Amino acid sequence: MSTDRDTVRSYDADAAQYAAEAAAMPQWVAAEIDAFVAELGGSGRVLEIGSGGGRDAVALEKRGISVRRTDVAQGFVELLRKSGFDADLLDPLTDDLTDPHRPGMPYDGIWACACMIHVAREDFGTVLGRLAEATRTGGRLHVSVRDGDGEDVSIGGSAATPRRYVETYWREAALRSELTDAGWTVSEMRRCMGRPDDWWLSARASRA
Ligand SMILES: C[S@@+](CC[C@H](N)C(=O)[O-])C[C@H]1O[C@@H](n2cnc3c(N)ncnc32)[C@H](O)[C@@H]1O
Repeated sequence: MSTDRDTVRSYDADAAQYAAEAAAMPQWVAAEIDAFVAELGGSGRVLEIGSGGGRDAVALEKRGISVRRTDVAQGFVELLRKSGFDADLLDPLTDDLTDPHRPGMPYDGIWACACMIHVAREDFGTVLGRLAEATRTGGRLHVSVRDGDGEDVSIGGSAATPRRYVETYWREAALRSELTDAGWTVSEMRRCMGRPDDWWLSARASRA
């Protein structure tokens, strides 16, 4: 059970550049935000893991949702704080997920967009289960992962800030089964294209 430190270091070292690259909202994420906000009835408190540059949190808050921004990479936490937002360093695999602003109160939802690609396969169910425990019955989940088989190491960046991301791919049947076993009821799963030939599985679920 472990979080890949090279992946976290890569984001840490290059957080501002990554945030700039991801600033434009993909159409499929915008559609997921619409559905998530509608399912929450336009209000509620949400834990976001892997907030990154904070693009989605801003969109959710514009729609009436209160978001707790968190990331496993300190670089993103600092970037978000510099922009005037509260943000916490948080690893969903090991850290206490309790909401510091509402101790003892579960979240109404979890937003986990494109971040659980970096959770190792053997830890995936543990993270989903911890997120379920932190959410009220009927609370909503968005989670998206890359569609495919196996694992991959993506190398890039520049000489000054090399990137080494470890990613785990999922197929729909296995993702559904992990979600169900962890205490989520899947309501919809969509296959969405990011960049050309960059396919994502996007799950909508509720806390059973
Ligand atoms: C592809 S970025 C997505 C960022 C943002 N959610 C977005 O959609 O633009 C992946 C995010 O996952 C975070 N991350 C890396 N390893 C993680 C892990 N083991 N568990 C959760 N998040 C992780 C990174 O720090 C980064 O914020």
